[in-house]
Amino acid sequence: MQLLIFIGLQASGKSTFFRTNFAETHKLVSKDLLRNNKKPSRRQAQLIEEALQAGASVVVDNTNPTIEDRASLIQLGCSYNAEIIGYYFESILTQCLERNQQRTGRARVPDVGIYATIKKLKPPSYAEGFHKLFYVQIADNSAFEVREWNKNEVADG
Ligand SMILES: Nc1ncnc2c1ncn2[C@@H]1O[C@H](COP(=O)(O)OP(=O)(O)OP(=O)(O)O)[C@@H](O)[C@H]1O
Ligand SMILES: [Mg+2]
Repeated sequence: MQLLIFIGLQASGKSTFFRTNFAETHKLVSKDLLRNNKKPSRRQAQLIEEALQAGASVVVDNTNPTIEDRASLIQLGCSYNAEIIGYYFESILTQCLERNQQRTGRARVPDVGIYATIKKLKPPSYAEGFHKLFYVQIADNSAFEVREWNKNEVADG
């Protein structure tokens, strides 16, 4: 049973990666699905707990930019003995702004949100309690390239 924590700017490709890689095997939890909830963080924690209780693997598909955002998720996952895996999505501001521009309707977010997130974004580290960390990039041919995160690696900003 796994708890996958996605980390990355808006429009870095998280939800697309979920759909192409984990939709069949993992339950999706995201605050984007809780927009009308008064306490989305609390509801999100409940949904994660319900899934782990039932033995199901979960993906938390939010920007999860800060160590604090991730700490509560990691703690929850550990309490159910889940394997905690982080996926950091390459978050280059100009590229994310451009991909955001290409989105339509509700999927497009205000650019100020992206600027606010990049200010807070702290790449993850094993010290936070992840059992595994991966780095995800979108290649020129649009393929997702995934590689293991080296312990001393410094991410883009
Ligand atoms: N591998 C890819 N190649 C080309 N375009 C991509 C790829 N992955 C995602 N995109 C495009 O980039 C945009 C953002 O992708 P996506 O919605 O998956 O990002 P996100 O990280 O989930 O963003 P948010 O945090 O706002 O939910 C979309 O228009 C999507 O079609
Ligand atoms: Mg998304």
